[in-house]
Amino acid sequence: MNKGYFGDFGGCFVPELLMPPLRELEEAMRRIMPTTGFTTALEDLLRNYAGRETPLTHCPGLSGKLGFNLWLKREDLLHGGAHKINNTLGQALLAKLMGKTALVTETGAGQNGVATAIAAARLDMTCTVFMGAEDVARQSSNVRRMKMLGADVHPVESGSRTLKDAINEALRCWIATQRTTHYCFGTAAGPHPFPTLVRDLQSVIGRETRAQILARAGRLPHAVVACVGGGSNAIGMFHPFLEDAEVRIIGVEAAGTGEPGCCNSAPLNLGTPGVLHGQRTMLLQTPDGQIEPSHSISAGLDYPGVGPEHAWLHATGRVEYGLADDAQALSAFKTLTRTEGILPALESSHALAYVLEHRESFPKNGHVIVNLSGRGDKDMNIVRGALGDELQGQSSVTCCP
Ligand SMILES: Cc1ncc(COP(=O)(O)O)c(C=O)c1O
Repeated sequence: MNKGYFGDFGGCFVPELLMPPLRELEEAMRRIMPTTGFTTALEDLLRNYAGRETPLTHCPGLSGKLGFNLWLKREDLLHGGAHKINNTLGQALLAKLMGKTALVTETGAGQNGVATAIAAARLDMTCTVFMGAEDVARQSSNVRRMKMLGADVHPVESGSRTLKDAINEALRCWIATQRTTHYCFGTAAGPHPFPTLVRDLQSVIGRETRAQILARAGRLPHAVVACVGGGSNAIGMFHPFLEDAEVRIIGVEAAGTGEPGCCNSAPLNLGTPGVLHGQRTMLLQTPDGQIEPSHSISAGLDYPGVGPEHAWLHATGRVEYGLADDAQALSAFKTLTRTEGILPALESSHALAYVLEHRESFPKNGHVIVNLSGRGDKDMNIVRGALGDELQGQSSVTCCP
């Protein structure tokens, strides 16, 4: 691969001061990650500490209503409550073997912050987390968890006070602390080599899913579906299926309020190419290159950019990228909760919403897999605020309207 490029996207557009730690990381990936010491230790952590492999759950109630088999890959059942720990355990282990003693990271929904704080505690490292002040307010339960785990949480007041601004601050912090510190980037985005590193660590999701559906259904799925923020849970699910031409692969971006001209978090559908956070990718930006504010009800999708491999997969047409808005995600949250007894994260609810809204596009009696990237406990206040009493009663919810 041409130095971290995916077609025209990717690369390493960073200030000179960031080149040494990025080069050091790239060299460590080559030297340390293929060793038996690394792979054995990571496998042990993932299996016996984080809870892999995660189940592939068939949804009998929803399948009956939809007319095809709906399956969920249960990343919500991992330690910490989301897929993020696949990546943080891998990066923390790598950093430890590189001789680093500290981790710095960014977080939106707080799940990457929690997962990094968990990895740091387990591997006896310190942890600093930058989080937009708006996200600190809307994901307060995760802020409490990070602090409990010993992390130093810094609210970021600049810009839109969300994930984009948290990444800016984390990169600045890394410039100053690079000798002792590893930047545990939380998604498959940013400068090379992060998109490749995070994808490789998250691809365990798709590898397991492929083997599980072959064993349970005796065939490959008709479609795999995942929400796309920076893109890590999606690329982790998609990558092992890219060569299977018969499998439809669908990423779902957040359409925000869904009103024309209103903020969204859908750079693949509604953005243009540009450079942000060290990568050339699709961005929400003005014609003269100023980053526009994003919006999604789910903090983890609230980012004006996307990982460069998704930008390339979008350009090639191999992966479809659809949209689900805030209201559709809330409705999917409600439906899954009441039909299958599973509380999904609002991020993952976007992927499910797409399937519910486009049910006619999937074959009767077919097999459709949604990556349930995280659990919804962190979103209780938002859902209660948005749905009010609707979720309190017994009979007011219509499933699969
Ligand atoms: C549960 C969950 N799913 C999805 C995402 C989006 O991130 P990514 O696109 O990197 O998977 C997040 C981000 O915080 C998350 O917490």
